[in-house]
Amino acid sequence: MAQDCFLVQPGNPLHGTTIVPGDKSISHRAVFFGAMADGTTHVRGWLPAGDTEASLRAARALGIEIERHSDTELTIHGGAFKQPDKALDLVNAGTGIRLLTGIMAGQPFESVLDGSEQLRRRPMNRIITPLRTMGADIEGNNGYAPLRVKPAQLKGIHYDLPVASAQVKSAVLLAGLFADGETVVTQPGPARDHTERMLTAMGANLVTEGNTVTLKPNGKLKPVDFTVPGDISSAAFLIVAALIVPGSEITLTGVSLNPTRTGILDVLLEMGADMTVTETGLEAGDPVGTITVRHSTLKGVSVGGDVVVRMIDEFPIFMVAALAAEGETTVRDARELRVKETDRLAVMTTELSKLGAKITETEDGFSLSGPQTLKGSTVYGHDDHRISMSLVVAGLAAEGNTTVLDARCASDSFPGYAETLQRLGADVVVREHCGE
Ligand code: S3P
Repeated sequence: MAQDCFLVQPGNPLHGTTIVPGDKSISHRAVFFGAMADGTTHVRGWLPAGDTEASLRAARALGIEIERHSDTELTIHGGAFKQPDKALDLVNAGTGIRLLTGIMAGQPFESVLDGSEQLRRRPMNRIITPLRTMGADIEGNNGYAPLRVKPAQLKGIHYDLPVASAQVKSAVLLAGLFADGETVVTQPGPARDHTERMLTAMGANLVTEGNTVTLKPNGKLKPVDFTVPGDISSAAFLIVAALIVPGSEITLTGVSLNPTRTGILDVLLEMGADMTVTETGLEAGDPVGTITVRHSTLKGVSVGGDVVVRMIDEFPIFMVAALAAEGETTVRDARELRVKETDRLAVMTTELSKLGAKITETEDGFSLSGPQTLKGSTVYGHDDHRISMSLVVAGLAAEGNTTVLDARCASDSFPGYAETLQRLGADVVVREHCGE
């Protein structure tokens, strides 16, 4: 079958300054929250990627008018939702389906939320259970999508999240906007707080104390304009590429430095990364800034506890950085990686071993000893954007050429990934037909 792929030739150092695409978490929320708001929301810097476009189409299918001024600039005319005439298709977007289910639970009409085969394999009981406790009428397919949501009167609850998940926290808080009484969510660790920041900016009565968030419904959200900052999760691929390719020095501007997302920077600095991070302002409630990073001699590190949730999407690329580091790296408390787009612990271990890496996978993490020299080969992205993009970076530091089958999925979160790397000087091209 013809399949898009990345062809990666190592050797070229990365140089220059770039922005990265808009934050995926904030872009999903900007569409959904703007759709719920009482009036018009302008969004700049929006992420035009596979996952977020699915959320945008779902909002339109719910009767919300969204003007598209360009790929990255939207005007959302918020107001009442209409019953969709078919299932809402969130494709591969876990954030899209989980947040929208929380919103749909409070609507006076029935809806069905569904997605790709991959999304249908991701666990939904984590939202079904608390939403049902709130009184929601939700039927899943044995705990998986498709999810059928019928009208029900919701009541506020106090929910102790069993895992630190921003998607679950957000689904409960969003349902709480339509519930009688207050909704309280306690999280075991600092999961990303974009929902709290953005709803507060829109006038919601929401208070965070430590790991507990309390929401008291107070009517419609008021529209505000959002400028979406650059996604630190996308920046991470470029940062690690610059760290491990000799002779590199790059600068990334306008990147979100929300402290619930900067675990990867903390860990790379602990590994000895030559990196400077400067805050330059605030966007969509997030601090933003400039990151300059140079090729560095990294040392192994031990990662576990609260920092794990603050870098949960960065473990595939972190594994690539760890292979280049001197000494032992161990990761624990990262079991959640097994229920992302793929089982990222298993898939990264398998694919990197095709490049000669020796990694010991554990139940909740991995360990490895570096530095390891990788040998270029053919690897597969498993329709998981962060896997494909991490394997490209591994190829940039390998000996010989690497082919990463499954380039398409990179645009689920990072449109123009290969072009951005090329502009920085890396030799990465996308081929439409790879003869596989
Ligand atoms: C996200 C939360 C995280 C993260 C995902 C985006 C969000 O998922 O992995 O990419 O926008 O709320 P979990 O809440 O399942 O940890």
